Amino acid sequence: MSLPRHLAIIMDGNGRWAEERSLPRVEGHRIGALAVHRTVRSCRELGIGYLTLYAFSAQNWARPSEEVGALMQLLLDYIHRERREILDNDIRLKTIGDTDNLPSFVRLPLRALISESANNRGMVLTLALSYGGREELVRAARTLAFQVDQGERLPDDIDAEAFEAALYTSGQPDPDLLIRTSGEERISNFLLWQLAYTELHFVPVCWPDFDREHLDFALRRFATRERRFGKTSAQVSEPPTGPRTTSDLEEPPC
Ligand code: IPE
Ligand code: IPE
Ligand code: MG
Repeated sequence: MSLPRHLAIIMDGNGRWAEERSLPRVEGHRIGALAVHRTVRSCRELGIGYLTLYAFSAQNWARPSEEVGALMQLLLDYIHRERREILDNDIRLKTIGDTDNLPSFVRLPLRALISESANNRGMVLTLALSYGGREELVRAARTLAFQVDQGERLPDDIDAEAFEAALYTSGQPDPDLLIRTSGEERISNFLLWQLAYTELHFVPVCWPDFDREHLDFALRRFATRERRFGKTSAQVSEPPTGPRTTSDLEEPPC
């Protein structure tokens, strides 16, 4: 079965999950963190190379301050609780977003775990924190404008590659599959550039209920999709053309 190399998830519906049970919204976020643990573990076991989780958007700062405060505390708890899991499973932790905005009691342990895990190669786990796609594009445009201003590049040199290099996600493959839970069918300012050709999968369950069965189902559906990238179906299903060299027939070196 063809697996996504990069899976991105909009973990939505924590508040509704709690409200449906007459619990405070924060309780939904707390149980949602257990779904994060399960999902990271499953993706690592499956051999998915990149997992990107939308944990807190640039717009989420506008929520009531008690909810924002509780989310920051839960993030700190997550970093402490998952530290061993991340390091023992060869997971590299990264973030995208304006993490300078995070309170220092979260930012500092987060940065410490990012550098502790920097040489891990099993999977890249990226947390989108204080992240917005439009904000990321504006930041990239500003970086490129600054480079032009400094005489480091000409306006004509600004192409898709240069733009990509100025994004938070520089050097990472684009997501192959995006899952959003909670039944909402929108992008909500997530990875606006990177999702250009991503397959989208919307799940009705709220994030705290998302489990291995939902993940496996999404992956099975993904495996049946034909990704055409603008070409025709016949073109993408054709075997590769061109002369085969003897090296094509050799086993790759171990
Ligand atoms: C997602 O759940 C978590 C964050 C955005 C931080 P929500 O808190 O958005 O839950 P709903 O969508 O209100 O149910
Ligand atoms: C998107 O969910 C952000 C995260 C999951 C972190 P939201 O709940 O903030 O999105 P909207 O407001 O429903 O579009
Ligand atoms: Mg929501």
